[in-house]
Amino acid sequence: MTKPHTTPRYSRILGTGSFLPPKRLTNADLAAQLALDGIETSDEWIVERTGIRARHFAEAGVNASDLSLPAARAALEAAGVDAAEIDLIIVATSTPDMVFPSTACLLQQKLGIAGCAAFDVQAVCSGFVYALTVADSMIKTGAASKALVVGAEVFSRILDFKDRTTCVLFGDGAGAVVLGASDTPGILATELHADGRHAGILCVPGTVSGGQILGDPLLKMDGQAVFKLAVGVLDKVARSVLEKAGRSESDIDWLIPHQANIRIMQGTAKKLKLSLDKVVVTVDQHGNTSAASIPLALDSAVRSGQIKPGETVMLEGVGGGFTWGAVLLDL
Ligand code: ACO
Repeated sequence: MTKPHTTPRYSRILGTGSFLPPKRLTNADLAAQLALDGIETSDEWIVERTGIRARHFAEAGVNASDLSLPAARAALEAAGVDAAEIDLIIVATSTPDMVFPSTACLLQQKLGIAGCAAFDVQAVCSGFVYALTVADSMIKTGAASKALVVGAEVFSRILDFKDRTTCVLFGDGAGAVVLGASDTPGILATELHADGRHAGILCVPGTVSGGQILGDPLLKMDGQAVFKLAVGVLDKVARSVLEKAGRSESDIDWLIPHQANIRIMQGTAKKLKLSLDKVVVTVDQHGNTSAASIPLALDSAVRSGQIKPGETVMLEGVGGGFTWGAVLLDL
């Protein structure tokens, strides 16, 4: 039972974790696979346009909750928190195990716990920033004290391997954080946005109805429209979050943008006048893992010692919906 609180209450990341499925495909591996169907691509094209060199794909039968479990366990261990202490689970995913129940409920069961609130957030590549913001709000109001926030995707399931403009961009994986109540922030400011007028530029238009899939169940994207929108909104939301927190660009130790494309990330850093060595980059090794990309990058930077306790980190998500948002935090 969560106790009522009177003093200001904040949330803070207590531990991070992540998991990548073992099957790794370099651009050359993927190009060779696509060539079997007469689809031409090359390592050179993919690296030059996106910065991606490799991605991981889950084996058949391995779902988002399966990837979430080791990521969640690693975050719990890093936080020194027992799964039984978790009173909120939010999983950000657009590739859930099932239509329902939520992947969060399936993860809860796999963690061997029961009773706490568990639900999914669907905001595509902004999903982790959305989920973290919801968890932060619930902790601040006293509705939760220790939250497990996960981004997990098996985008390989919704890729059209006959469409070379999209299938080379994405990968599978999961990242997690344990967020706990604290007297000091932690999370300094958050902001979320959406504009459904742009729903069509990045979507999976199919749906399940009457026992059949109606419409196309594979990912469609207008890459250039996404590119233009992404750079503009990411700059604006980052500035707005800094202002809310009473901080400036020079206070940012690390920028962790959604890992979609190195050129979007470089464009965002340039607009924020941040040198590229302050940008955490994992897109080269992970590809775009949608909602998992930010927690995967965060965990990799924390575990490698790149990001140190106390440093200020800007997380930025952008993706289908169109959705976007940012979270500024002290680690
Ligand atoms: N290999 C080889 N050639 C390719 C490939 C490929 N995989 N894909 C496209 N091409 C060809 C095209 O057919 C085209 O050939 P043509 O000139 O003979 O017609 C040429 O390359 C240029 O194609 P464009 O689509 O114009 O390439 P562009 O420079 O726009 O790059 C890309 C495409 C990388 C998708 C770019 O638009 C982009 O980065 N967009 C951002 C979208 C993004 O990152 N989305 C990720 C998901 S969204 C999100 O997470 C926010």
